[in-house]
Amino acid sequence: MGDLKLSQPPVFPEGFLWGAATAAHQIEGSPMADGAGPSIWTRFAHTPGMTHNGDTGDLACDHYRRFKDDVRLMRELGLKAYRFSISWSRILPDGKGRVNQAGVDFYSQLVDELLANDITPLATLFHWDLPAALDDRGGWLNPDIADWFADYGRVMFRALDGRVKRWVTLNEPWVVTDGGYLHGALAPGHRSRYEAPIASHHLMRAHGAAVQAYRSEGKHEIGLVVNLEPKYPATDSAEDAAAVKRAHAYMNRQYLDPVFKKSYPAELRDVFGDAWPEWPAEDFELISSPIDFLGINYYTRSVTEATNSYPLRAGAVRQPLGTYTETGWEVFEQGLTDTLTWVKNHYGDIPMYITENGAAFFDPPVADGDRVRDPLRMDYLQRHIGAVKKAMDAGCDIRGYMVWSLLDNLEWSLGYSKRFGIVHVNYGTQARTPKDSARWYSKVIASNGGSLADPLPY
Ligand code: BGC
Repeated sequence: MGDLKLSQPPVFPEGFLWGAATAAHQIEGSPMADGAGPSIWTRFAHTPGMTHNGDTGDLACDHYRRFKDDVRLMRELGLKAYRFSISWSRILPDGKGRVNQAGVDFYSQLVDELLANDITPLATLFHWDLPAALDDRGGWLNPDIADWFADYGRVMFRALDGRVKRWVTLNEPWVVTDGGYLHGALAPGHRSRYEAPIASHHLMRAHGAAVQAYRSEGKHEIGLVVNLEPKYPATDSAEDAAAVKRAHAYMNRQYLDPVFKKSYPAELRDVFGDAWPEWPAEDFELISSPIDFLGINYYTRSVTEATNSYPLRAGAVRQPLGTYTETGWEVFEQGLTDTLTWVKNHYGDIPMYITENGAAFFDPPVADGDRVRDPLRMDYLQRHIGAVKKAMDAGCDIRGYMVWSLLDNLEWSLGYSKRFGIVHVNYGTQARTPKDSARWYSKVIASNGGSLADPLPY
């Protein structure tokens, strides 16, 4: 078991939101049902060679048709909260203009079902599945997207704000631009050092525009979700220290400085070279529209060394000895405590949620008919929940923790090859089997963290 050094007893505050997260394209399936339009992910996955094994989201976990069963499962596990995302092109098949009521109804029914089961919904407006019709107009490279996104937000706020009290604008703008516009491994598959900072900036403008729309339409809370990955130097050389600063500016500060400090980190000029644009001051007024909370997705750290390699001068990753997940990410829970305390010290005392944390590990086959033994995932979660508690003990205002993910699901370009779920999904039969980690997590929730002090059951 992990070296937790928790305060005794490791009990979390009353009302702490224990939950699990998913995203529309990764679980729903039926992407074109009931009048929906295509998203860039439907197109991308149907382009030969873009995803592992040619896997698509056409069926995924069939959650679109099975959502009631899935909510029942959440209830059985004792989840207090569920973070899901809304598919923009179900709501607006052309990305803007005409609203598809059947799409709105789907999320409305999901929310009703959650509330009827005492599960608090957290809704994310954008988790990567941009309407293809908007990509045809330039997608995140078109400055008009800030207005398109705010208009879409307004439709959802009007429909659901009476029932959804926590909203997220964007999920992980860094991944959208790094994967979608710089390296091309994710939709829309572009590879351009020149496009990436433009896409980033319009993502952040869209975030700000949606927050402003929320202030006139909504009554509750809205925030942003970023993935943060702390950077540690590979050696104590001055070159590695400088590389850490650049990598940290590129991956972490690029999406927080403009929100909290109205500017981009100066290092980004160095990272992007001549591809780094200047932006008007009023853009930063929009981007820094006050948010109610920050959502943090945390998976790993990176150990950084200096390199000048193309396309960016942001440092290279060196892999130290340690335990690695099936996606090649080092298990390093101290990085989560460090990240949360860094946010507090650097940006102020904003309420935070851990909106994603989890791991893909090779799960042995479903054994004994109803059991999936996943001790490594249990160990990962125990360490990281402990790391959250450490940050809380150090004064961070953390309101909830969501495991990524409720279900095994479509891991984007990696298809169904990586399983992050605490619930196993048999993609042939769609049978759901809670893994040992889910049963363990249920006890953590029921004891409000108290059972974290117990040894893991293996
Ligand atoms: C994303 C998820 C993804 C997970 C694991 C996060 O970057 O928000 O959609 O499945 O990490 O890679």
